[in-house]
Amino acid sequence: MTDHDSHARLAVVTGANAGLGFETARGLIRQGYRVVVAARHPDKGHAAVDALRGDSPGADSRCEPLDLDSLASVRDFAARLRARESSLNLLVNNAGIMALPTRELTCDGFERQFGVNYLGHFLLTSLLLPLLLSAPTPRVVQLSSLAHRGGKIDFDDLHGEHRYDPWRAYRQSKLAMLLFSQALQRHSRDAGWGLESLAAHPGLSRTALLEHGVNSRAMMGRLFRLAMPFITQTSSEGARPTLYAATASDIRLGDYIGPAGIGETRGAPKRAHMAPAARDQAVAERLWQVSCELTEATWRKA
Ligand SMILES: NC(=O)c1ccc[n+]([C@@H]2O[C@H](COP(=O)([O-])OP(=O)(O)OC[C@H]3O[C@@H](n4cnc5c(N)ncnc54)[C@H](OP(=O)(O)O)[C@@H]3O)[C@@H](O)[C@H]2O)c1
Repeated sequence: MTDHDSHARLAVVTGANAGLGFETARGLIRQGYRVVVAARHPDKGHAAVDALRGDSPGADSRCEPLDLDSLASVRDFAARLRARESSLNLLVNNAGIMALPTRELTCDGFERQFGVNYLGHFLLTSLLLPLLLSAPTPRVVQLSSLAHRGGKIDFDDLHGEHRYDPWRAYRQSKLAMLLFSQALQRHSRDAGWGLESLAAHPGLSRTALLEHGVNSRAMMGRLFRLAMPFITQTSSEGARPTLYAATASDIRLGDYIGPAGIGETRGAPKRAHMAPAARDQAVAERLWQVSCELTEATWRKA
């Protein structure tokens, strides 16, 4: 793998205060990136920046508040970044929540997993487009999951009003991220943006998200906890597919990167299996249009 020239490049990583996002930020800093830690709780974000500086003395990193639960917060974040920076080389849409036991809504009335995991990132990417297009070969990486494989975009019930299931909603949000990465690559190609769009998944990585998800399913959870040491990896191992998608130059645009080990649960990065539903261009374009309507994203270049 030959890496991009990452000298003084700027990266934004959402949810970089913990888990895979923190490890992604750490890896990018070690490759010379400046990293904005986008965190919903500034205290956690500042603590993460301190830890990143402890890990790499001289690291150029700062925290910016971002709560993907609120489109107003997404707009504020993008406006602050655009006021302060002239270009953005890399956006890693990493933050996420999983399998909320009961249906919850974001500030804007979206089912919370669909809103935080996907719609917030959709609007964020659109608002950062001018900054991204001011950088040479800008790249955007979406975090998906093995869970996308069982996912379906239910256009008649996107927000689980009629039927809510915690995992169904999570799977839908992660399939949406993969469809988004594919659609963004096509839009970039058709508009001549030169923006590189990829996706990644971390297999099964021991983070707060996984612990919480496991605990939410009593019986399955007990079995899973017993098997955990054998089928999961650390968060730093889990960040490798994201880091590969973010920095490798031997990728194909639109690629989806995940762990190479058994069932893509852990291991070194490789091209990952994408379910047929993630390749459905008609669904991806319909989702793009619906997402523009829901978030008022306009995808303006300037
Ligand atoms: N761990 C796995 O095995 C696994 C598998 C497949 C996919 N993934 C994906 O990997 C990504 C990272 O997950 P993780 O395992 O690292 O989980 P994690 O340790 O729980 O970290 C999730 C991050 O997202 C942030 N976040 C949650 N809600 C947010 C909001 N409303 N606005 C902004 N940030 C928010 C969290 O902030 P707080 O610290 O404030 O909560 C945290 O920084 C997620 O997209 C997840 O779906 C993980």
